[in-house]
Amino acid sequence: MSVLEAVVPEPAEPLLRVDGLTVHFNVGRAGFWGQRPLQVHAVDDMSFTIAPGETLGLVGESGSGKTTTGRAILRRVPASGGKIYFQGHDITHVAGAELRLLRRHMQLVFQDPYASLNPRMRVIETVAEPLIVHGLAKSVQDATDRVSHLMNLVGLPADAGDRYPHAFSGGQRQRIGIARALALEPELLIADEPVSALDVSIRAQVVNLMQDLQEELGLTYLFIAHDLSVVRHISHRIAIMYAGKLIEIAGRDAIYEDPKHPYTEALLSAVPVPDPPLQRARSRISYAGEVPNPMQPPAGCRFQSRCPFATAQCLSEEPPLAEKAPAHWAACWHR
Ligand SMILES: Nc1ncnc2c1ncn2[C@@H]1O[C@H](COP(=O)(O)OP(=O)(O)O)[C@@H](O)[C@H]1O
Ligand code: SF4
Ligand SMILES: [Mg+2]
Repeated sequence: MSVLEAVVPEPAEPLLRVDGLTVHFNVGRAGFWGQRPLQVHAVDDMSFTIAPGETLGLVGESGSGKTTTGRAILRRVPASGGKIYFQGHDITHVAGAELRLLRRHMQLVFQDPYASLNPRMRVIETVAEPLIVHGLAKSVQDATDRVSHLMNLVGLPADAGDRYPHAFSGGQRQRIGIARALALEPELLIADEPVSALDVSIRAQVVNLMQDLQEELGLTYLFIAHDLSVVRHISHRIAIMYAGKLIEIAGRDAIYEDPKHPYTEALLSAVPVPDPPLQRARSRISYAGEVPNPMQPPAGCRFQSRCPFATAQCLSEEPPLAEKAPAHWAACWHR
């Protein structure tokens, strides 16, 4: 071993590596003879990594492809192209027993805690179900003990297990959803807008809980949100999507303080800032315009129809994701 090798640590392997992920949905056929397949370009050529213990915030407006990205990683929708690696293993096409095993390592926290819990199951059954399905509870007592431990972890009262979901508030239901997601002791949680359906006043409590759990259990998060206000405190890095494309990715502070893409600036203009002159400067820029048709994305930059800085080049050539500053990537010709 050379001196250098002894001093410079190997870069830690990411827990998750997404490489050129593409997801197109077939939604029918067009043309007089139905000769042209119609495809929704939900996700196009997404690449990013998440390190162990890291939170990557994934932000973009409704329809930009965030949920599809999460579902593709969880192998709930098939990738049309690209690769997904988990702990260095290519999981893009694993099936059968391997896929079952993979499901234990990555879990989903749903957006709507009202819709995602079975109203006819007591909380103890809801949280214990994954343990039973995966054959991990040794006995009824073992399942009961594990569920009480999980309830305690997420801050629910000990007697919550005997009650039904309707007896709980939105925030408590999301705690139940998180307990269920944690039952199999996953390394990666994909939280798909986990607080969007909750009252503004309790969002911070759930985000704080997730942050505490991350520290305690060493969890890794892909935390999805539709605006930049929710993810600030929990994210180490933030990725921004627009119309199926990753358009910017950088450390959290770089995104808020020095965005490199006009769309990120547009998202930031919607986040209240304590500095009124800065807020006024931000909101002076207009980003009005049509969102591109996901079945026929335009040539060139997908943000062209709403971008006040678009030039002829933007209409014909697609801007690559380029490193604009150290570890700060954005896809724009003119920044
Ligand atoms: N199962 C599906 N079949 C067809 N189109 C879909 C399907 N799921 C999502 N889409 C489309 O893919 C695009 C991205 O959707 P989605 O990933 O849900 O976005 P987001 O979570 O950012 O709101 C949207 O145009 C949506 O209508
Ligand atoms: S590439 Fe052009 S259209 Fe796209 S964001 Fe940059 S300036 Fe705007
Ligand atoms: Mg979504």
